[in-house]
Amino acid sequence: MTIMAESRPDLIEGCRLPVLLSNGEEWHMAEILSKKEVGGRNIFYIHYEDFNKRLDEWVSEDRMDIGRMELPRKDTKTPKKEGKAVNGTTSRSSSPDRELVNGSAQKQKALVARKRKTVEEDSEALILQPDGQPEPLPKIPRQTGSMVAHHDDIVTRMKNIEMIELGRYRIKPWYFSPYPQELTNVRIVYICEFCLKYLKSAKCLERHLMKCLLRHPPGNEIYRKDGVSFFEIDGRKNKTYAQNLCLLAKLFLDHKTLYYDTDPFLFYVLCEHDDKGYHIVGYFSKEKESTEDYNVACILTLPPYQRRGYGKLLIEFSYELSKFEGKTGSPEKPLSDLGLLSYRSYWSQTILDILLNLKPNEAGERPIITINEISEMTSIKKEDVISTLQHLNLINYYKGQYIITMSADQIESHSKAMAKKLITIDPKCLHWQPKDWSKRGKW
Ligand code: ACO
Ligand code: ZN
Repeated sequence: MTIMAESRPDLIEGCRLPVLLSNGEEWHMAEILSKKEVGGRNIFYIHYEDFNKRLDEWVSEDRMDIGRMELPRKDTKTPKKEGKAVNGTTSRSSSPDRELVNGSAQKQKALVARKRKTVEEDSEALILQPDGQPEPLPKIPRQTGSMVAHHDDIVTRMKNIEMIELGRYRIKPWYFSPYPQELTNVRIVYICEFCLKYLKSAKCLERHLMKCLLRHPPGNEIYRKDGVSFFEIDGRKNKTYAQNLCLLAKLFLDHKTLYYDTDPFLFYVLCEHDDKGYHIVGYFSKEKESTEDYNVACILTLPPYQRRGYGKLLIEFSYELSKFEGKTGSPEKPLSDLGLLSYRSYWSQTILDILLNLKPNEAGERPIITINEISEMTSIKKEDVISTLQHLNLINYYKGQYIITMSADQIESHSKAMAKKLITIDPKCLHWQPKDWSKRGKW
């Protein structure tokens, strides 16, 4: 009789069991998604329940509590915790990092759903605002964008690139990205930080760098201040760059699939500048024409630059462009967990700033502002203004009218947040003319 190399015949895909987190301290329920043999030992690709997929990883048996294993449920082949749309706002798990929010991600999901519901329910009430009627909230939007929402399958559900090297950083990818198959077998994928070409070895990169003349993204530099610049890249004119950018971005964007036709998009790439060149920090893409008033399709800050205010800088820039266009805009849905956090924070700060700077009128009466006015001043779409005010719990009904009241605590925490703001866009440094793409026949 032959004994299979398998460590335990019953450890199969779909099993659930507690797994020791990489911090070596806590156990968390996880599902086995795949297994493979490495050096005669089985290792397992696992997804921690209620945590974002970016934490999925390969683990060996010594981190698994096999005694508490549950066999796959009969009714669900690969049970998916993710996948239910929450009123069209988020189509996939928005379970955040452990550091992100206290309490379970489920609570967070329920909260998002509840908040969304409140907005929908209460939008009736807001009709009484002097502005007139806010339109009903958009239903599940059609997915457009340089990436489109995709359905999980076992291949795209698993990270396929172990590590990338980009300029002076080595970065661990968070999600699957459809790089060529041969790159999934190398330990590090080397990416030219200027043209974003991907290479399978350091030697190949070295050879490439001798030939590659770019020291900044292609396209026009449309903004420069305080060591940061924005480049505008046309997805039709610079197709290879745009496709390489999408491939790189997909490593950190879960809820989108690559869409190879980059023609209908513009890409705004944020760079830090030094004597070696312009180093990519992040970007957002934008449809040349959006029927749904989207002013951002995908947005990303590369991990080494995250949590330094660049996400909100990208968002601010996207609204500055909308102001130049004389339009209001909103990000394409669904938003990721971190996307929602960043937008919420930007919207709250921007709106609070306006409210706190309102002056009483000449008669010394309470200042008045309408939702439409806030929306026009900021280019933030009306629905997002309303949801932000509700999220901040600022709207109250008092003696027959809606008023906005702020507690001293709210004012103080807003002042602190503004003081913390590291970097902002100076519209005077934006050299850009919006184009009317509808007149161009073909982009
Ligand atoms: N945990 C907790 N809070 C966080 C985290 C985190 N990991 N990351 C950002 N935040 C909070 C920050 O505290 C900040 O809020 P505050 O100013 O109120 O304190 C806010 O989010 C924004 O922080 P920034 O430093 O400005 O943003 P950052 O540069 O980190 O970029 C972004 C945010 C773009 C969402 C980044 O996390 C990212 O690229 N994620 C992967 C791709 C993604 O999810 N993009 C959005 C998809 S939705 C869409 O494309 C339309
Ligand atoms: Zn290059």
